[in-house]
Amino acid sequence: MYYKMASSFCVLLVCFLGLATMATAAAPRKPVNVPFHQNYVPTWAGDHIKYYNGGNDVQLFLDRYTGTGFQSKGSYLFGHFSMQIKMVPGDSAGTVTAFYLSSQNSEHDEIDFEFLGNRTGQPYILQTNVFTGGKGDREQRIYLWFDPTKDFHFYSILWNMYQIVFLVDDVPIRVFKNSKDLGVRFPFNQPMKIYSSLWNADDWATRGGLEKTDWSKAPFVASYRGFHVDGCEASVAATFCATQGRRWWDQREFQDLDGLQYRRLAWVRRRYTIYNYCTDRSRYPTMPPECRRDRDV
Ligand SMILES: *[C@@H]1O[C@H](CO)[C@@H](O)[C@H](O)[C@H]1NC(C)=O
Repeated sequence: MYYKMASSFCVLLVCFLGLATMATAAAPRKPVNVPFHQNYVPTWAGDHIKYYNGGNDVQLFLDRYTGTGFQSKGSYLFGHFSMQIKMVPGDSAGTVTAFYLSSQNSEHDEIDFEFLGNRTGQPYILQTNVFTGGKGDREQRIYLWFDPTKDFHFYSILWNMYQIVFLVDDVPIRVFKNSKDLGVRFPFNQPMKIYSSLWNADDWATRGGLEKTDWSKAPFVASYRGFHVDGCEASVAATFCATQGRRWWDQREFQDLDGLQYRRLAWVRRRYTIYNYCTDRSRYPTMPPECRRDRDV
């Protein structure tokens, strides 16, 4: 009897500790649902964007004539940028759906999610990249642990003075630490706009360009919702954020991943990585300096 009680207490304790660990993971604030027009405008081919439910739901269309894209009205220095997307279903080979932040100038900063379509039933690839001061070439590629064409999922970027975190449904899939001390530029003084687009990239996207877009399957449709923006709005020419350090994404729990988040990142790395520029010795005989931080994961 005593033994039984002790063991169930242990079970409860473990359970309790488990929950406590979950609760301390720095979860970004849940974005509010706001309609497209509040924060976004079409960038090109506006006739290939369709609005439903008062603009709360939006679809992008790609056909043999054109793809399309949209961008935020405002530009931002730091914040948490999130969108719910349901990728092109069925035969999406050759198509790319992108969600990214980019500054407007020549030595530009950019933080990219690119979803590379595939033949029916074959897995999408999620490619990410980070440009700082005009320099990119930092691709990472993963498979997702779910079919991104079946449901909406959250794709988010947390960007503060300390780190850039790519999140899929709150699971960190990539971290780019501020490695200024290692001589690597970090985006900190150029406001970025938020962009999304759907276009034909069958010269490279699917199996390196081997699989071509099947136009008999057009139009290709990507669906979006969740147009809330949580960022420090700054004019395109600004070099700092007026509320720097005082917003929720600046606070201590967002300055580094916590234990649970590192474990989740390690899980993604172990199970789903296809490519990481940090380990590509033919391309980088010497490991890029920021990868030293990346390796600790
Ligand atoms: C498409 O499917 C093939 C075969 O399963 C796979 O090798 C490839 O990585 C998938 N994704 C893309 C975008 O090519």
